[in-house]
Amino acid sequence: MALERTLSIVKPDAVAKNVIGEIYSRFEKAGLKIVAAKMKHLSRAEAEGFYAVHRERPFFNALVEFMSSGPVTIQALEGEDAIAKNRELMGATNPKEAAAGTIRADFADSIDANAVHGSDAAETAAQEIAYFFEPNEIFSR
Ligand code: PPS
Repeated sequence: MALERTLSIVKPDAVAKNVIGEIYSRFEKAGLKIVAAKMKHLSRAEAEGFYAVHRERPFFNALVEFMSSGPVTIQALEGEDAIAKNRELMGATNPKEAAAGTIRADFADSIDANAVHGSDAAETAAQEIAYFFEPNEIFSR
């Protein structure tokens, strides 16, 4: 198993539901350490830049609109197999398909407002972490 970092976002719907702490607790209980964290209201341009890879997808505008609709928390998680472990904790993109006990099954309302984001691979994790954090904002433990 490899020690990895992944980028996680608690999306505007979950922040509005007051479940930031509950979600952080799931990361920590699974052995993932929060090594960087900030709260931010993304501008449209910041959300567009973050999701640039999806710019041709039909849902791009809705996704950008939603992600810039309210504050989010952005965190880097570190641990053994952090990328896969975080995606397991999150559950499927569509909460209707998410396994019981996952973050999306418990807190997400729809595929648009699905509570959390997590990087899908090592390369994207590195890019996404660098998009939001300077090296001196990450506190490896
Ligand atoms: S892919 O092909 O695996 O990259 O796509 P996927 O992970 O399914 O989705 C990428 C992100 O787009 C969001 N998404 C949507 N937003 C709004 N409407 C619809 N229909 C929709 N489908 C997917 C999805 O939540 C993903 O966001 P992140 O933040 O990456 O989880």
